[in-house]
Amino acid sequence: MSTPSLLILAGDGIGPEVMAEVTRIIDWYGKKRDMPFDVSEDLVGGCAYDKHGTPLHDDTMAKAQEVDAVLLGAVGGPKYDDLDFSVKPERGLLRLRKEMDLFANLRPAQCFDALADFSSLKRDIVAGLDIMIVRELTSGIYFGEPRGIFTEGNERVGVNTQRYTESEIDRVARAAFELARRRGNKVCSMEKANVMESGVLWREVVTKVHAESYPDVQLSHMYADAGAMQLCRNPKQFDVIVTDNLFGDLLSDAAAMLTGSLGMLPSASLGAPMANGRPKALYEPVHGSAPDIAGQGKANPIACILSFAMALRYSFDQGAEADRLERAVEKVLADGARTPDLMGPEGGTPLTTAQMGDAILAALD
Ligand code: NAI
Ligand code: MG
Repeated sequence: MSTPSLLILAGDGIGPEVMAEVTRIIDWYGKKRDMPFDVSEDLVGGCAYDKHGTPLHDDTMAKAQEVDAVLLGAVGGPKYDDLDFSVKPERGLLRLRKEMDLFANLRPAQCFDALADFSSLKRDIVAGLDIMIVRELTSGIYFGEPRGIFTEGNERVGVNTQRYTESEIDRVARAAFELARRRGNKVCSMEKANVMESGVLWREVVTKVHAESYPDVQLSHMYADAGAMQLCRNPKQFDVIVTDNLFGDLLSDAAAMLTGSLGMLPSASLGAPMANGRPKALYEPVHGSAPDIAGQGKANPIACILSFAMALRYSFDQGAEADRLERAVEKVLADGARTPDLMGPEGGTPLTTAQMGDAILAALD
């Protein structure tokens, strides 16, 4: 098989700082595990605007369509706040997601034992937590027509439309069931079929996909509001949660905070399989460009490193190597390695971004 290809788009702010640590890990896999990657780098976001006048050059877009996986840092920053909407850094990221048709957004909520006290919930509720939220990313109320602010009689009305086709529900349901087979074999689908027709169709299609193709996976349904309560009450009851764009936006952010710092959270966005069978894929940390700490060596690189672990698992079929990397992260945390965002009241000396990278590389060795 040919060498797997990776396009790295480090972006703005702390993006390049955290990505530098991932690059060292990619090199480690090439040298120590005989797993070379064909890595290319390019610009996205504000840095692309500075050079090309657009947050994503057409050549970069074309490259992203060809590689096996894209790894992105973060985009944006105060320098670009006054730019026209059409060239804002975020537009570069939105264009990537849209043109690659990345319909399934995977957001794990995983609680490393050493950080369980960072959660807003009690330790025993979150320790060992490992769930995955699959959010539909390219349809639903953020895209449905009609939309806008209209005038009706003597007042204005703001309109958005929740809209899902059967095929859109079908493909994201399949993504969730496939994932569940590689994890705890359990899917909980969340909608509001009690008050929304799109939810009725959602439940129908998920049930049909399950019966036809994934009867071995345990399926349950929950109204999304009840799901939100259950996520806070007893999150460990879940394995994979599949839900629409709007509910997924809320539920994945809520689930993320069960586990503590933004600097720890990876994500993947997957699309349809390419000719080589691999899904179109973009991996990125959940956090932004953190202008308040950029350039100071304070950024936690773990979210970006765990995003690469997701790439190993979901794009390159290297689940054991992904486990190895996640275990290395777990070990350094258990040994007390902390970037400033992970410092508790007990104090101590925080590590720099590069020192955290050093520690993880040492644990890999
Ligand atoms: P942010 O995620 O950049 O920062 C929020 C807070 O978390 C800050 O105090 C920051 O220092 C901290 N933080 C974030 N990542 C961290 C890390 N790896 N290690 C340690 N601390 C970390 O969100 P914010 O401040 O709302 O946005 C800043 C810029 O980033 C804006 O221009 C925004 O548009 C952009 N942004 C980009 C995203 C992306 O590229 N996907 C996502 C969210 C925001
Ligand atoms: Mg959100």
